[in-house]
Amino acid sequence: MAGMEVEKTYLKEVDRARRSLRALISSRQCAPIMLRLAWHNAGTYDAETRTGGPNGSIRNDFELNHAANNGLKIAIDFCEEVKRSCPKITYADLYQLAGVVAVEVTGGPTVDFVPGRKDSLESPEEGRLPDGSKGASHLRQVFYRMGLSDKDIVALSGGHTLGRAHKDRSGFDGPWTKDPLKFDNSYFKELLKGESEGLLRLPTDMALVDDPEFRPYVELYAKDEESFFRDYAESHKKLSELGGFTT
Ligand code: HEM
Repeated sequence: MAGMEVEKTYLKEVDRARRSLRALISSRQCAPIMLRLAWHNAGTYDAETRTGGPNGSIRNDFELNHAANNGLKIAIDFCEEVKRSCPKITYADLYQLAGVVAVEVTGGPTVDFVPGRKDSLESPEEGRLPDGSKGASHLRQVFYRMGLSDKDIVALSGGHTLGRAHKDRSGFDGPWTKDPLKFDNSYFKELLKGESEGLLRLPTDMALVDDPEFRPYVELYAKDEESFFRDYAESHKKLSELGGFTT
């Protein structure tokens, strides 16, 4: 088959996978863990060595068993259901598409999705993802390593508008917002309120309020959901494309 034809067939498969993910994520209400899967696959990227990143390697048992990935087998298995009916899509594209669809079906912004990621089974060493018990300098260390900025850190942390922590997975417990299946700017509103009955705040979440460079973004996103959606969509696209399409 000529190159153009291969590409056309592939784009059709991506479209089918997108529809299949929409149905699966809505019916199983699994948007939060699908977003966390996409983020944990992409968030290992190291710009200097050009290793890690959104290449599907998280399906490796070695990487899936890293402590930061506790619980993500659930999301890997959901994606496997889609892969069975759309076998041509790469795992790398599938996991990132799952993250984009998770944001979309819960009412968040449309994140532009460009297919073409290659699969790799080369996993990075453990310890590249952020540790929720640390502070602002740790966040910067981790996200700057990926080539991301302060604005990206705050916007992407808004992903915690979805889902919750589970004691048996991370040791933390509880949701960040009152409606963990709705993608909106409530994460930032709650952060500025201080303590709130039954809601979780990791030390890394508090760092966004306490740090003088981060805080203006928290305030902006709490009062202006449109700005949050615009910046989030831009940062999420960057995260999903770390390393380009050649790894
Ligand atoms: C869940 C830490 C950034 C999306 C969690 C959990 C922790 C955590 C400890 C709980 C896991 C569990 O017990 O199930 C962090 C830290 C971050 C960060 C330290 C540094 C900024 C992000 C980003 C996104 C994201 C950038 C997406 C854009 C999520 C989602 C969940 C989650 C959706 C809920 C999963 C579920 O409900 O099963 N995160 N995270 N996080 N994280 Fe993050």
